[in-house]
Amino acid sequence: MANQYKRILLKLSGEALLGEQGHGIDGDILNLYANEIKAIHDEGIEVSIVIGGGNIFRGVKGATEGMDRVQGDYMGMLATMINSMALQDAMERKGAQTRLMSAIRMEEIAEPYIRRKAVRHLEKGRIVMFGAGTGNPYFTTDTAASLRAIEIECDVILKGTRVDGIYDSDPEKNPDAKRYSTITGDEVLDKRLDVMDLTAFTLCRENKTPIIVFNMNVPQNLKKVVCSTEDVGTRVVWDEE
Ligand code: GTP
Repeated sequence: MANQYKRILLKLSGEALLGEQGHGIDGDILNLYANEIKAIHDEGIEVSIVIGGGNIFRGVKGATEGMDRVQGDYMGMLATMINSMALQDAMERKGAQTRLMSAIRMEEIAEPYIRRKAVRHLEKGRIVMFGAGTGNPYFTTDTAASLRAIEIECDVILKGTRVDGIYDSDPEKNPDAKRYSTITGDEVLDKRLDVMDLTAFTLCRENKTPIIVFNMNVPQNLKKVVCSTEDVGTRVVWDEE
């Protein structure tokens, strides 16, 4: 199978790590993700990863309960480091070479984020994880994913979710909801479809970075998205194709 992409950024949700559990990190999900990621890495794809922290802490939720928003956001950034370390460990147990870079300095745990170094790691065949978001409050991990993807010149952002793609209405409420195979970014905006927050989406738009939304919890899906032309997920494009 010919690879469509040379370098990708995979965005994973922290909440997906919950699996069937009420809190924390489900070992089975971690194992599934590590296998899926290793499979595309073994195909020669340069893989970078941003993972959220919502299974541990969400700044926005803390704020609704009276917590200082900035304090909550920093706690959320630390939560992404915990998830990144868990996924790093799972991937390394499968023999992958990985490097974790943090947007907030914590040298005892991870390398600081340095763009040129990240690119070098990728060129040397290491899976690179970006933790601690952008290092700034008020930015989501989707925005961190868009920013890093653009900085290190990824060909695509793969947004791994628990749904099969972008639908014209909520598939959980409407059984006739239709999944888009491809949709333009302008259509996403016009229809106010929920793909990423506006900051993240705008970064992709300005740089014409394609986004693919797909179900990460279906085994082999990631490989199909990256290495095949099978109709998996929804591809957001910036020009009419
Ligand atoms: P190259 O020199 O390009 O081959 O990269 P390298 O990552 O193998 O070399 P380096 O000597 O920078 O790193 C060796 C190991 O130390 C790797 O596992 C890095 O992830 C880790 N490492 C490097 N810098 C830091 C840091 O600031 N903090 C932590 N915790 N680990 C680091």
